[in-house]
Amino acid sequence: MAKQILVTGGTGYIGSHTVVELQEKGFDVVIVDNLSNSKIEVLDNIEKITGIRPAFEKFDLSERELTDAFFQKYPNIDAIIHFAAFKAVGESVQKPLEYYRNNMGSLMNLLECMNKYKVPHMVFSSSCTVYGQPDVLPVTEETPRKEAESPYGNTKAICEDIMRDYCASNESVNCIALRYFNPIGAHPSALIGELPVGVPNNLVPFITQTAAGLREELSIFGDDYDTEDGTAIRDYINVVDLAKAHVVAIDRMLSGKSKANYEYFNVGTGSGYSVMQLVKAFIEVNKVELNYKIVDRRAGDIEKIWADTTYGNNELGWKAEKTLEETLASAWAWEKNVRGLK
Ligand code: NAD
Ligand code: UD1
Repeated sequence: MAKQILVTGGTGYIGSHTVVELQEKGFDVVIVDNLSNSKIEVLDNIEKITGIRPAFEKFDLSERELTDAFFQKYPNIDAIIHFAAFKAVGESVQKPLEYYRNNMGSLMNLLECMNKYKVPHMVFSSSCTVYGQPDVLPVTEETPRKEAESPYGNTKAICEDIMRDYCASNESVNCIALRYFNPIGAHPSALIGELPVGVPNNLVPFITQTAAGLREELSIFGDDYDTEDGTAIRDYINVVDLAKAHVVAIDRMLSGKSKANYEYFNVGTGSGYSVMQLVKAFIEVNKVELNYKIVDRRAGDIEKIWADTTYGNNELGWKAEKTLEETLASAWAWEKNVRGLK
């Protein structure tokens, strides 16, 4: 019988791509999402891609009784991939309690249910934000974490610690935290992708919306960093590659290959690109015009970060495969599809 995977936040950006990859590998997927940052229509598009409509339950995972009732209704879940969380850095500074309650409360409810309903495995969405501005680049999994720059970043660090401590106390629970670098792009079908609410905070959605005419001009935050062209450097990972890393992590746990019952891995490409390199690549690959100007640095931004992926590549047998060009083309194809542009 197919293994059944609960994907929390499965109608969201990374979750929806992961549902597709799971279904294509023969897993039976159940999504839980409260639609606080995604749309129910995503289910139609997942179905268009894979031919399978995933089971869907709408509720808030920070509600303990509702979470408990879910596991009573679905007694055969084999593993969980936990994406559901609030993720806007700026908003987390304005509303810290909402972020702590949602992000930590949901994780703790799931961990308690894993114990109660004998669901041994969980993959958790962490972030390279836990490294802050590292002293040495690229960052390996051995690189020390730094004090978080925002309540959002702090929820990721605390959630990692909660999993570490809970796994230490309970041998039958097995968790893997994946520390994502900067996920970008969309499914090659252009049927699912990132759909930010309001003005995008992240670079690539801002670029695609500017190219589509929704925004007048992209602001590049700072050109006086200590990098070749002065703009900040990140490790941009294709969202489909990232989705596949989750399937590999699930396989690792289900086949008993984990080396400890709490593990964490960097999920990036191993290459850093500057904002200016990315903007120029977008213009060139997609043959579009893009207005941009240089403005002051954005508060809280780090100068440069990219992953050393050696450990993850070797242990998981997974590697990011898509090129930056392919990824930027997929981001533009998705934006055009959403806006009905040719
Ligand atoms: P997203 O907002 O598109 O998806 C998250 C989904 O979770 C949304 O559909 C939202 O409606 C749902 N959700 C939130 N709180 C919920 C709750 N209490 N109960 C039920 N559903 C809830 O975000 P994403 O970009 O797909 O990110 C997924 C995960 O990856 C998040 O944990 C995020 O912090 C983490 N992450 C994202 C990035 C990134 O750049 N996108 C980078 C690092 C880590
Ligand atoms: C941010 C968060 C990170 C989170 C991630 C995904 C911060 C400090 N970090 O990462 O914790 O996991 O989003 O939500 O907020 N840029 C511009 N112009 C723009 C937008 C961005 O120049 O309009 C630049 C930024 O300064 C940065 C790069 O583009 O150098 C990438 O920015 P962004 O996409 O927001 O991601 P991060 O800041 O790396």
